[in-house]
Amino acid sequence: MSSALFRTKNVEQSIQDTEEPEHALKKSLSALDLTVFGVGVIIGTGIFVLTGKVAKENAGPAVSLAFVVAGVVCALAALCYAEFASTVPVAGSAYTFSYATLGELPAWIIGWDLILEFALGTAVVAVGWSGYVRSLLDNVGWHLPAALGSREGAQGFGFDILAAVLVLVLTAILVAGVKLSARVTQVVVAIKVTVVLIVIIAGAFFASGANYKPFIPEPVPVAAGGNLKAPLIQLLFGWAPSNFGVMGIFTAASVVFFAFIGFDIVATAAEETRNPQRDMPRGILGSLFICTALYVGVSIVVTGMQHYSSLSVDAPLADAFKGVGHPWYAGVISFGAAVGLMSVCMILLLGQTRVFFAMSRDGLLPRFFSRVHPRFRTPHRPTILLGVVVAIVAGFTSLSELAELVNIGTLFAFIVVAIAVVILRNTRPDLHRAFRTPFVPWVPILSVCASLWLMLNLPAETWLRFAIWLVIGVVVYVLYGRSHSRLSSREETPAR
Ligand code: ALA
Repeated sequence: MSSALFRTKNVEQSIQDTEEPEHALKKSLSALDLTVFGVGVIIGTGIFVLTGKVAKENAGPAVSLAFVVAGVVCALAALCYAEFASTVPVAGSAYTFSYATLGELPAWIIGWDLILEFALGTAVVAVGWSGYVRSLLDNVGWHLPAALGSREGAQGFGFDILAAVLVLVLTAILVAGVKLSARVTQVVVAIKVTVVLIVIIAGAFFASGANYKPFIPEPVPVAAGGNLKAPLIQLLFGWAPSNFGVMGIFTAASVVFFAFIGFDIVATAAEETRNPQRDMPRGILGSLFICTALYVGVSIVVTGMQHYSSLSVDAPLADAFKGVGHPWYAGVISFGAAVGLMSVCMILLLGQTRVFFAMSRDGLLPRFFSRVHPRFRTPHRPTILLGVVVAIVAGFTSLSELAELVNIGTLFAFIVVAIAVVILRNTRPDLHRAFRTPFVPWVPILSVCASLWLMLNLPAETWLRFAIWLVIGVVVYVLYGRSHSRLSSREETPAR
């Protein structure tokens, strides 16, 4: 039994499965498509919304350092993802990687974890989008009834109709085909990047040196202590919880980490890439680098435009321009944010359906979901199922805390991928690796430590929720996946 739980699906087998015609995805993406995909999903709620909150509550002007810290953590993970994605170009990202190395149960856990990451991530971003659209509508004098507006702090019945409709429309676009969605994404990404550049360039003229003093504010003790809202690390080591100071930068980094989520999703499109060996690493590392540079630029400028204590929590970039007397810029930025968050949502949804697709192709979820559409060649069944579920979640839930759950899930996947790189180097040294993670095992080890460090800076209650989700996953695996696994019916033994 224990050997069944850790049976692995060898790399050749994974690639072979993608070649069965009725389960094959269309290979149409180039390196540029992937980079655009990456930037499209990475720049979103994190920079447009969370920057203000963490500057105000955790880091002050040093929020730009928090972006650097989170960017470094992601870069280390990206080096590991790039090796895997270029070696195992199969839909499913970290799920597929761990199936090839760690075994079926760990792979299942990762797949389950990725579904959580993408589903909640999509919902979080859809709700953020709906907020920006409502604020734009308010500008022109249209007001939605309260019951159809935000769930954040709402009383009684409420359904965030805009967020739900967005998810359903994007679901339809994804069913119609990746190429179409890649084109839509390109336009959206162009608008989003332009708006971010406007913030950096125009905003720089309004920055004042006085706002950067002190750059790292003195630590301020917080009353919390000892409850589940405190970062786990403070509970473990009995440190007095505080905001700001050097530790505040790390707390901020564990939150703004959300802003980087997405480059890992580029890897989920490996199977739809024309030349994955060459294009995957370019797409992953390229998009991550572009976004890190833009984030640091935006956060430096915004904290220079307004003192961190007066930054807005809902729409910090737009409101900083209002603060310096330029509401016109604020309107343009809100528009760009609303358009930009749309692409984030779409690609998160895409990544999620691809993981689900890969798991069902392996028999760990019902095989019904892995038949691609006869005309569009897209996995329409999981796309529709998950689209509807996410639309309901986005409509009914207030999601601010769930963003932290998304972060912990993603960091967990980073750790598994880093470990898997080292394992696969040992078990399959013969495999051709178009991209090799440098300094193995040191870079993967550093990646594990860095990801774990950020995880420890997340609240204890986030850890608890994450544990509950994983326990549910193991139960589903034991009741369904274990007995339906295609690997078990093939009675294959791992090729080592
Ligand atoms: N990185 C994406 C965002 O910030 C998920 O919205």
